[in-house]
Amino acid sequence: MTLPDGTRLTALDDDSRLADVLELDTWAFPTEHAVPDLLGLANPIPWGRAWGIEHEGASGLVGMYGAYSLEAFPVPGAETRCAWLTWVGVHPGHRRRGLLRNMIAHHFAEVRARGEALSVLNAAEAGIYGRFGYGHAAPAMALTVPRGAALREVLGSAELAAEFASWDPEAHGELIAAVHRDAGREPRGIGRPGWATWETPELRAVQEEDPAAMRGGREPLRILVVRDAEGRAQGYARFRRSPDRSGGISDGAVEIRDLVGLSPAAVHRMWSLLLDLDLTSRATIEKIPVDDPILHLLVDPRAARPVVRDLVWVRILDLPAALAERRYAAPVDLVLEVTDALVAENAGRWRVVVDEAFGAARVTRADAAAAPDLSLDIEALGAAHLGAVSLAALAAAGRVEARDPRALAAAAVAWSWPVMAGANWEF
Ligand SMILES: CC(C)(COP(=O)(O)OP(=O)(O)OC[C@H]1O[C@@H](n2cnc3c(N)ncnc32)[C@H](O)[C@@H]1OP(=O)(O)O)[C@@H](O)C(=O)NCCC(=O)NCCS
Repeated sequence: MTLPDGTRLTALDDDSRLADVLELDTWAFPTEHAVPDLLGLANPIPWGRAWGIEHEGASGLVGMYGAYSLEAFPVPGAETRCAWLTWVGVHPGHRRRGLLRNMIAHHFAEVRARGEALSVLNAAEAGIYGRFGYGHAAPAMALTVPRGAALREVLGSAELAAEFASWDPEAHGELIAAVHRDAGREPRGIGRPGWATWETPELRAVQEEDPAAMRGGREPLRILVVRDAEGRAQGYARFRRSPDRSGGISDGAVEIRDLVGLSPAAVHRMWSLLLDLDLTSRATIEKIPVDDPILHLLVDPRAARPVVRDLVWVRILDLPAALAERRYAAPVDLVLEVTDALVAENAGRWRVVVDEAFGAARVTRADAAAAPDLSLDIEALGAAHLGAVSLAALAAAGRVEARDPRALAAAAVAWSWPVMAGANWEF
């Protein structure tokens, strides 16, 4: 790491630096909110694993990043420890001098020293992180569903009890955390890669709060809970309605923050109710996995105007550990030739052997004489890591080279996963 002259890295260990962090954050991410207003909110800064850059000519911070330590990040067929890179920002007056590149180098060294195999993130702009070896591994979809859109029938939907309530973290926090976690583990042993839960107290706090200052004219957060005959929660949706009566015409939206069901009936029931609220013309949701059940319930999914974008980016920092942590959809035996400009330990030839469907891999250094089946950069391997981006699709874009099309097909099947990687929140 070679920081520009006059700058130095400093550990951000506690909230005595909160005002400095928020000052820099509001420079990096423009907002209508002034720092004093933000001080009182839940600010999920991973103190102790956050770092700032100070400049001798400036007070406060000119750069910063942090990392959440996740213990159970879902990868195909397993949960693993990982670092979640976050709070990345550089002051506009100090951009493009290599501060981010230096912070990334520091982060990678720290992650490897802690024995974590992956760094994951949500990107503010999609063009930033590929150069550091992060691959886009899980997309998200946004929908705008017209009020009253027809859904296919699902048996049992009408029998579920439904309750609308005002969102109350005390009353609903545990319930939604449990439903959210369980939904990501279905079907058992398979699960949804990338479906991170609010593991740390900071993340839990920020996803529970609903500060009036952040509502932008919309109503306070509401919740809809559906239960089975035994009273067990089968799903929840958090939403708020944004009123719009311009020209005397009611044209409000139901803005769904998250909607998670444990059964087809629960998903059907919640969407049916939210698509039938008075004084609204549509329901919107910003982040759902691209195989979310609503897409298969809508009779006319095109009318929901799906928009897909990148959501989860994965950087493999310890290749043999990362490949051994996940499971594979099919048996495979091949040699990968990997390039990695930033982590020399990952580069070279690796043999990956999986004996059975949904099994783990043995990952060993391959003999230099072993002909590689696939050649790819660590960025492409990161993109394929959650099973949602096909190695064959990456090959079609020239990001994977294959010796033999059948080896490529076998690898693409093995690296794939039955449930699409995705998440319904970001930070
Ligand atoms: C994005 C940001 C952190 C970059 O910081 P920086 O110190 O200017 O970055 P560096 O000087 O280390 O640049 C490293 C490389 O990334 C590139 N880069 C930086 N920001 C980029 C962006 N927004 N889009 C595309 N490329 C970008 C640089 O051109 C440089 O490329 P090179 O190494 O090929 O020459 C900073 O511009 C910022 O804070 N932006 C607003 C907030 C934000 O987007 N944060 C990221 C949150 S995920």
